[in-house]
Order: sequence, then structure tokens, then C-alpha cells
Amino acid sequence: MNRRQMLRWTGAAALVALPGRVLAQGSPEIAVTKDPNCGCCNGWVAYLRRAGFPVSVINDADAVQALKSNLGVPDDLAACHTAIVAGYAVEGHVPIPAIKRLLAERPVARGVAVAGMPSGSPGMPGEVHEVYEVTLFGDGGRLSWGRYKGDKLV
Ligand code: CU
Ligand code: CU
Repeated sequence: MNRRQMLRWTGAAALVALPGRVLAQGSPEIAVTKDPNCGCCNGWVAYLRRAGFPVSVINDADAVQALKSNLGVPDDLAACHTAIVAGYAVEGHVPIPAIKRLLAERPVARGVAVAGMPSGSPGMPGEVHEVYEVTLFGDGGRLSWGRYKGDKLV
């Protein structure tokens, strides 16, 4: 192999490796559907943006319920906003580490949810930081995706 061939091969390898590197370094867009007048929804969007996630927002209160049922979000896990990232549903005030774990592990599931709106969860006001559960849900059932306080795993 001469030097020019080697350079060409190296270039090709770099191209092949690119999609994985993009996923590891950048974040895929999170599309959030929410009620335009919901303060805690805006708080969660701001939390994601502060962390560098690209976020798109659909402000449509009527679309939120329809999206929850399209994505198969169970009623008892429903919260306020509903988001989609990499084909997964992200329901409610889900902390970023739980989203990153989803993107890293890519489980066979519909998505993750934080039921209700725990005080002190990302985007939620409240001096009391409740411990809350992130639930992975799908056709195969449910699994704990971690217990959190604020956006720290406990
Ligand atoms: Cu909320
Ligand atoms: Cu919300």
C-alpha cells in the first residue's frame, strides 16, 4: 500500500465512523408538544436547551392528548408535555441522564415517562425535591429506568 492509497483508506474509515461519532457527541433533536400556557413545560424546554439539546416546540394543547395516545403513553404515566426523541416518547419531566441512557442503550420500548409532576423534577418548581421514578414502558411491560431527585440518580 503506498502513501496515497493509505490516505484514501483512512479517509473512508473516518467517513464510516462518522454517524456513530455524531450520535455520541451531538444530541438528536427533541420535539416537544405542549400547551403554550404551561409554565412547567416551558421550564423543561429551557432545561433541555441549557444542556445543549436541540429542541423543537409545537405549542398546541389539543395535539398533546392525541400524541400521547398515538405513542401509547399509558394514562397512569401521563404528565403535561409529550416529546419525541429518536423515535422514543419522552413523557413529562424526564431528567436528561435518563434521556441520554435511552439514546445510549436503545431499549426495545415505546419510551420513558415521569408520571404526574414531581416537585423539584427538571422544569418543575418547588423547594421540596421529591424522589421520583422514571419508567421505561412498552409493549413488553414496564421497567424502572432509574430513581431520581432533581436530575440526579439516587
Ligand atoms: Cu409539567
Ligand atoms: Cu410539561
